[in-house]
Amino acid sequence: MKSPPVGSGAILMSTPSPDRPVLVGVTGGSGGPIAVKLLKTLAETDIPVALVVSDGGAAVLREECGLYPKDLEQYADVTYDDGDSAAKVASGSSSTRGMVIVPCSGNTLAKIAHGFADTLITRSAQVHLKERRPLILVPRETPLSTIMIRNMSAVAEAGALVMMAAPPYYLKVQSVDGLVAYLAGKVLDHLGVPHNLYRGWKSDEAVA
Ligand SMILES: Cc1cc2nc3c(=O)[nH]c(=O)nc-3n(C[C@H](O)[C@H](O)[C@H](O)COP(=O)(O)O)c2cc1C
Repeated sequence: MKSPPVGSGAILMSTPSPDRPVLVGVTGGSGGPIAVKLLKTLAETDIPVALVVSDGGAAVLREECGLYPKDLEQYADVTYDDGDSAAKVASGSSSTRGMVIVPCSGNTLAKIAHGFADTLITRSAQVHLKERRPLILVPRETPLSTIMIRNMSAVAEAGALVMMAAPPYYLKVQSVDGLVAYLAGKVLDHLGVPHNLYRGWKSDEAVA
């Protein structure tokens, strides 16, 4: 369809295109290695990646992986500051393939569940919910307080996918690296991105 001329009074909406990025938010839950694995795997595809790391995310990433946010920039096409609420991805008019918050801290989960949009990550999460675009949250906490369970329920009702960073014991994953790869692979499954990060249950059996 031909675009209406600029100034014609028509609203020019951004149309979905194959180069829509995946927006990856890294917050201060435990699970930095999952974010790193996800980013490295996405970097091997032709899917653009936009990255935002919260201050809490940077602190835990340093603790768990010995990495700084700038070390992750090589895996992203564009990186935004979490304080930059005017960034392109903060607007519903800027299309994405979806957003993943990995790891997703209980703090960020609570903000999303209650409609807060005080950072680029939380604002973008609200945008993904209102625009009915995929929003995947990967919390890691145990045990779970009633408050956190309620917050997970609220975001799930609003359309987000909550994917706890929980091990698949039945797949007999042999190492922490294997578990990390499995969790990154599960995220990619839900984004529709092919990968070979883990083998599913009875994957050697032919489909009947
Ligand atoms: C080493 C370390 C591990 C943490 N692990 C978790 C965790 O597994 N889950 C969680 O919800 N918060 C965890 N936190 C707490 C969050 O980082 C903290 O609440 C932070 O304020 C979250 O900020 P953000 O949501 O803006 O990233 C951890 C903090 C540290 C320092």
